[in-house]
Amino acid sequence: AEQGFKLQPADLEKAITPETKWLILNSPSNPSGAAYTRDEMKALTDVLVKHPQVWVMTDDMYEHLLYDGIEFVTPAQVEPALYDRTLTVNGVSKSYAMTGWRIGYAGGPKALIKAMGVIQSQSTSNPTSIAQAAAVEALNGPQDFITERAAVFAQRRDLVVSMLNQAKGISCPKPEGAFYVYPSCAGTIGKTTPDGKVIETDEDFVTYLLESEGVAVVQGSAFGLAPHFRISYATSTEALEEACKRIQRACGNLKD
Ligand SMILES: Cc1ncc(COP(=O)(O)O)c(C=O)c1O
Repeated sequence: AEQGFKLQPADLEKAITPETKWLILNSPSNPSGAAYTRDEMKALTDVLVKHPQVWVMTDDMYEHLLYDGIEFVTPAQVEPALYDRTLTVNGVSKSYAMTGWRIGYAGGPKALIKAMGVIQSQSTSNPTSIAQAAAVEALNGPQDFITERAAVFAQRRDLVVSMLNQAKGISCPKPEGAFYVYPSCAGTIGKTTPDGKVIETDEDFVTYLLESEGVAVVQGSAFGLAPHFRISYATSTEALEEACKRIQRACGNLKD
């Protein structure tokens, strides 16, 4: 959390061994909403350039969901020397609100893409031609709604961050992108619910929110970092306002 949920170049350097094959990078990120600036990305790609055995899979799914004027960057763009060992992954689920169409896509070196096709054609049922055509329409069609939508998401992020920071025991950083916030619930650990249950973990906390207020969030331990929880703000402002009010109430009802 102190590093804004971002991988630090020195930690990346330390983690790479001769056995390392891939780095999977996701910016803006699910679940933290963190996004790397150009300088931060360059610092990571500078490390990768020194290790030619390491390929990069960059999940750019939230490319268009960035706020406060932050520029989107992706590894092969920041460091063209990585181009020949980068697989760039994207999809229409988030930017085009087409989750149900099940279309993702990837760009990378020809031999790799060909091998992926060989495996996929034998092991999955494959995307329908109808969904593929719809995705082409989305990508080639008018794009102006994307910035309009991002502006609405930014307002929702600000609302959720502000309301969560007013909840007792919750501390919520303001993320750069995607549609998630990843607050800490450390201040609720050890407290007791009105039913007499002690909150020992983030899982206890999210269960308490669900059972007492009907608010569904995901415990941070599911993503490998506790005690946190993830909220998706890809829903209406009214629903978010109501949910945050309920979270505030639930936190206020906890006893020392
Ligand atoms: C970072 C990231 N990549 C990829 C996906 C996959 O989306 P889909 O399976 O809808 O294409 C998600 C969905 O939550 C995501 O958060």
